[in-house]
Amino acid sequence: MEGIYSFLAFYERKTAEVYEKILPSIKNSTARLLISILAIDSRKHSEVFRHLSGEKVPDKAPEANIGVIAGEAITILKDAEGMIGNKPSLEILEGLVRYEKLMNEEYLVEIYSKAVDLRQKNDAIKKVLNSIAEDEARHRDFLELAVNLERGTPSPERG
Ligand SMILES: [Fe+2]
Ligand SMILES: [Fe+2]
Repeated sequence: MEGIYSFLAFYERKTAEVYEKILPSIKNSTARLLISILAIDSRKHSEVFRHLSGEKVPDKAPEANIGVIAGEAITILKDAEGMIGNKPSLEILEGLVRYEKLMNEEYLVEIYSKAVDLRQKNDAIKKVLNSIAEDEARHRDFLELAVNLERGTPSPERG
């Protein structure tokens, strides 16, 4: 079960990297603010899970029994990573809305409850995990807002 923390540390770091790479191409400044919050939160989450795992963030994706929802989320994240530089940023962000939705559900119903079971007796850890779950509940909202703002910002290519 501790393996799940390494797994989350790895993918939260990857999530931050994806948002950080997309950021410079976002034209709307409020959208950039919202996406930078997602990047900062994801860095923070990665650091929290790295701490809980007791190890360094692994270089390669660790194996973990993560369930179907998280599996789909990881596929979306990898696809998004592969699209950077090849597809319009807006299209990549639209794909990531579903990723954030899945991760939110996953945190609340699966990962979070497993982690809480694991650390049942530790109230401080419970609070920390709770705060991550609260961040995740906001992410989909922030990303949808960012997508809408960016969509409404005229792109220089289109004139
Ligand atoms: Fe996160
Ligand atoms: Fe998130």
